[in-house]
Amino acid sequence: MEFERVVRKRRMIRAFKPLPVSGDKVRRIIELAQHYPSAGFSQGVAFVVVTEPDRVHRLRELNRLKGDAPVLIVPCVSEKLYHDRYHEPDKIRSDGTEIDWPVPYWYFDAGCASLLILLGAVSEGLAAYIAGAFRPDLLRQELEIPDDHVPVGVISIGYPDYERHVPSPSLDRGRRPSSQVVHSQHW
Ligand SMILES: Cc1cc2nc3c(=O)[nH]c(=O)nc-3n(C[C@H](O)[C@H](O)[C@H](O)COP(=O)(O)O)c2cc1C
Repeated sequence: MEFERVVRKRRMIRAFKPLPVSGDKVRRIIELAQHYPSAGFSQGVAFVVVTEPDRVHRLRELNRLKGDAPVLIVPCVSEKLYHDRYHEPDKIRSDGTEIDWPVPYWYFDAGCASLLILLGAVSEGLAAYIAGAFRPDLLRQELEIPDDHVPVGVISIGYPDYERHVPSPSLDRGRRPSSQVVHSQHW
C-alpha cells in the first residue's frame, strides 16, 4: 500500500473480526518494525509477540484491553542498553563520562518502533491500537520480561471490524490546526 495512504488510514481501531492473522503477516510486521531508528544505533527495543489464545486472553484481562485481537505485541525498551552504548569509545566524552541525555532517547526509540508496528499492520490490511502498559509489573510477570526492560504498551492487531468500532471520545477534541503547531523559521 502506498505510504501516504497507510499513514492516513492508520487509526486506533479497538474492534476486531474473529479471524486469525497469518504468521507470515505477523513476521513481516515484526521484521519491518526492527527498522526503527535508534540513538547511536543502540537498538534497545525488544518485542514480545503473543498469539497463544490463553496468553492473549490473560494479557487482555490484565491490561484491560478493548476488543479481542488475536495478536498482541508488547514493545519493551532497555535504558541500560543505551547507557552501555554511550560508554563505547565513539560515544563516551573525553572526560570519561556519559552524555547529558537531552530527552530519554530509549522511550523516543520505543515510540518509533511502535509506530512502525501500527503502520505495518495497516500495510498488511490489518488494524491495530496501542494501549499504555498500565501494569508493567504484571506484564513483566506474565511475559517473563527481564528486569532491565520496560514494557511501554500493548499493541492489539487483527482484522478491523468497522461496524463494531467505537471511535475514541478523545477524537472529539479534533486535530490541532497547523497554525497552532507548525512554526515557520521561528516559534
Ligand atoms: C502512548 C499511547 C498510549 C495510548 N493508550 C491508549 C489506551 O490505553 N487506550 C486507548 O483506547 N487508546 C490509547 N491510545 C490511543 C489514542 O487515544 C489515539 O492515538 C488518539 O486518540 C488519536 O486517535 P488515532 O490514533 O486513531 O488517530 C494511546 C496512544 C498512545 C500514543
